[in-house]
Amino acid sequence: MEKVEINTTSKKYNVFIEKGLIDKVGRIIIDTLGKRKICIITDDNVDRLYSDRVIKSLADAGLESVKFVFPNGENHKTVPVWYDMIKFMSENSISRTDVVLALGGGIPGDMGGFAAATYLRGIKFIQVPTTLLADVDSSVGGKTAANLPAGKNLVGAFHQPEAVICDPDTLNSLPSSVFSDGCAEVIKYGVIQDREFFDFLERNDIKENIEYVIKRCVELKRDCVNLDETETGIRAILNFGHTAAHGIEKNSDFTVSHGSAVAIGMVVESRGLYKTGRCKEDYSNKISDLLIKNGLSVKCDYSADELFESAHSDKKRTGSKIKLINLKSLGKAFVEKIDIDDLLPILKAGVEN
Ligand code: GLY
Repeated sequence: MEKVEINTTSKKYNVFIEKGLIDKVGRIIIDTLGKRKICIITDDNVDRLYSDRVIKSLADAGLESVKFVFPNGENHKTVPVWYDMIKFMSENSISRTDVVLALGGGIPGDMGGFAAATYLRGIKFIQVPTTLLADVDSSVGGKTAANLPAGKNLVGAFHQPEAVICDPDTLNSLPSSVFSDGCAEVIKYGVIQDREFFDFLERNDIKENIEYVIKRCVELKRDCVNLDETETGIRAILNFGHTAAHGIEKNSDFTVSHGSAVAIGMVVESRGLYKTGRCKEDYSNKISDLLIKNGLSVKCDYSADELFESAHSDKKRTGSKIKLINLKSLGKAFVEKIDIDDLLPILKAGVEN
């Protein structure tokens, strides 16, 4: 079994990666936390596929569980759904020593984590991701959230899990577009932190190397969150492409998924930064080729003005400044604070091909 240790200021925990782990969740929880009551939080898609196996694994390990299921999709990542979750937890007598198990992709992970962070002022939780995007990004690092009408993830908390249990076999049940979504975040790590990994992805297939790919991404994420748990500095490089991406998601009323938006956002931002003289080289074609090879589209259907409008309610903005992620070279990103008004020309240059 592959294991990556995360060691943030607030918590040390392991990310376990192995095919078939979904049937060993109960044993890992017993080894990590001992006997606790478990509240599974998942969406209806994942529930159909994996809840029974998880519940059996918990029962085999002698763990009692209850389950809260909500409808899948970004439009259900809301405060009313979060409220239903914590109400369910109190009605089922979940106590301070009990544990939330967030089962699924980024949405159940973020929402289950947010319920755990807030219920009784915070209880423990375990992440069991079942999408590539959740394996390599959202399940690690303790960001939990729900959306507000003004934008994505605008209410939330930093709350680290006790363990992350990744079973790459769960990715076999993903529609190819959902797998590609995760590929966008995988490619992002090569762009921002590791040129060798980017070159590896150009030469190799992500699916054929899935365990190595997940492990490498988690290691690269670890390097950011260990240094900067609450994103006051280096962790922000993980937001490369996300300023445009959040605008795309919001303008599409969340019909464009997060990974697909990040793919377009990385191309728009790298091209715009080069064309406005902020980045020495134009990496957008290289990034775009790798994204397309992995089933992603890089065409932006929104205007720079539409994307700029959304940036005003983005968490990355403070007053008249916004943090934008730039590239020193391919594989080396840095955080640049720019005037919000300088963002529009970058987006304009980036959106035009
Ligand atoms: N998804 C970016 C982060 O966790 O910081």
